[in-house]
Amino acid sequence: MTVGSLLVADLVIAVLAAAGWLGGGASATRGRRLALGLAVFALLATIARAITITALARAGWWFAAEKILIAAPLSLAAVVVAGPRLLRAPADIRSVAVPLLFAGYAASGALLVTVLHGYPASAGVGLLAVAGVVAATAVSWQALGARQSRTMSRAALVVAVAALVTGTGLTAAPNAAPAVPHDHGLGDARTVGEPTRRFTLTAGTATVRVSGRDIAAWAFNAQVPGPELTATVGDVLEVTLRNRDIARGVTLHWHGYDVPNGQDGVPGVTQAAVRPGQEFVYRFRADQAGTYWYHTHAVSDVGVRMGLYGVLVVRPAPVTGVEVTVPVHTLAGLPLPTSKVEPVEAGAPVRLRLINTDSTTHRYALSGAPFRVAAIDGSDLRGPTPLVDTAVLIPAGGRYDLVFTAPAAPVALFVDGRPVYSTGPVSAATGAWPVLDPLTYGVSLPAPWSRFDREFTLVLDRGLDLHGLLPRYAHTVNGAADPDIPPQVVRRGDVVRFTIVNRSLVVHPWHLHGHHVLVLSRNGRPPTGSPLWLDSFDVRPGDVWGVAFLADNPGMWANHCHNLAHADAGMTLHLMYG
Ligand code: C2O
Ligand code: CU
Repeated sequence: MTVGSLLVADLVIAVLAAAGWLGGGASATRGRRLALGLAVFALLATIARAITITALARAGWWFAAEKILIAAPLSLAAVVVAGPRLLRAPADIRSVAVPLLFAGYAASGALLVTVLHGYPASAGVGLLAVAGVVAATAVSWQALGARQSRTMSRAALVVAVAALVTGTGLTAAPNAAPAVPHDHGLGDARTVGEPTRRFTLTAGTATVRVSGRDIAAWAFNAQVPGPELTATVGDVLEVTLRNRDIARGVTLHWHGYDVPNGQDGVPGVTQAAVRPGQEFVYRFRADQAGTYWYHTHAVSDVGVRMGLYGVLVVRPAPVTGVEVTVPVHTLAGLPLPTSKVEPVEAGAPVRLRLINTDSTTHRYALSGAPFRVAAIDGSDLRGPTPLVDTAVLIPAGGRYDLVFTAPAAPVALFVDGRPVYSTGPVSAATGAWPVLDPLTYGVSLPAPWSRFDREFTLVLDRGLDLHGLLPRYAHTVNGAADPDIPPQVVRRGDVVRFTIVNRSLVVHPWHLHGHHVLVLSRNGRPPTGSPLWLDSFDVRPGDVWGVAFLADNPGMWANHCHNLAHADAGMTLHLMYG
């Protein structure tokens, strides 16, 4: 069983246990049979939970911390209080109503801690849970009018209030996150030399036609995707961004391109958003070859979804073979690009530059020719071997370059089963193909580092965020949401290791700006294939990734989930050079 499915199983069992206890307690005043049945069911679920919690703890403390510190003691109390009373199988089942309800409140309180708070468990949250359980029990006691209830329930209410006050005090302790300073003057555009490639991108609302439908989009130069920007290594790019009428502002972020900080295009961090009528000039030298993309980073979830993105390709030298870029996107529910057929002469070398500009993973399958994955996220792989009938999964923001020699018969590329590019008529069922694991593909090299100057751990989860104007159910990192997540502070020259743990139930495609990270391990196992230098990687539920990078690009960098809805809902922090 994967850790991801354990997380789901544990949650389901916790819900069943809580429902069983509460149901047992509520029905005790009515029928003996039903109440007993539900209580026994809850007891069994609670025992099963001991197993899932132990298994999660073995996978990593992050997955089980609050379950062991808060849920386990509460469940134990529930069993100790309700269990023996049940065993005595009282003729008057009503006498166990309050103990059963207590068990139900304890199980629900623990469940709420997991769902609303998660990691890390704190004394304050524990006390709040206890306060809730004791208060609810006291109220039930009064309501059901059990004997000796008066003094007991009063005492319980006093305990609840004390726990509530202490717990609130502890959880409301001042937050440690220092404010993110703005407008660093790093990476001055004028110092890189005279531009050799000039582009102008004008952002504006536009109507674009997709599959015969008119779509209201936000577009660069009235097209979705925006113009493809190409350069050769050594070029100096100068890109003038103008905003015609995007009221919420635009910027250009060069996704995966490790530009100087001032060119990174993150509003409020490296520049102010470009408002309607304004412009901003980006200038940087193209010294990394590969497949990249650009997109707005102002209200990025909406902005990118509405169409403010395009391709950036930097080639090592003029190309000889056939090159096709495939930026996959979903615009107003319609998939892009639409299918295109282009015959290629047999024997020609072909490079497909696959880009995922959506917020969720896509599955790509190339049929009709053996191919190699030449590069991932702009970095060439070492010793890629030919693959046949194998699919690749590209995370949100990620890029794969597939290369092959055109055979005489047609080839076709499918994205999630839909043909997007082919050299002739092909039909293929690619759904059952195995998926490539890039961690086992190609030829390995020893890691360049074995010592790390800094180490960070990011535990990804969901939780209630009460720091803003309105409470929200945020996507959190170490229990906090943007802007309250403390930045990771490094010094120039540091070798930095960070561990990313996903204890939530959804995939988080992780993306650090300004640096490529080297994969050190996934779920405790080092890669056996080519070194992987990534800027976008899927951290699936239950995954623990170890990655490292050299801090060689000073500034203030966004470090976030590239499911941009998650990034907007709190899952963004910053890497800062101190
Ligand atoms: Cu492509 Cu900060 O993102
Ligand atoms: Cu995410």
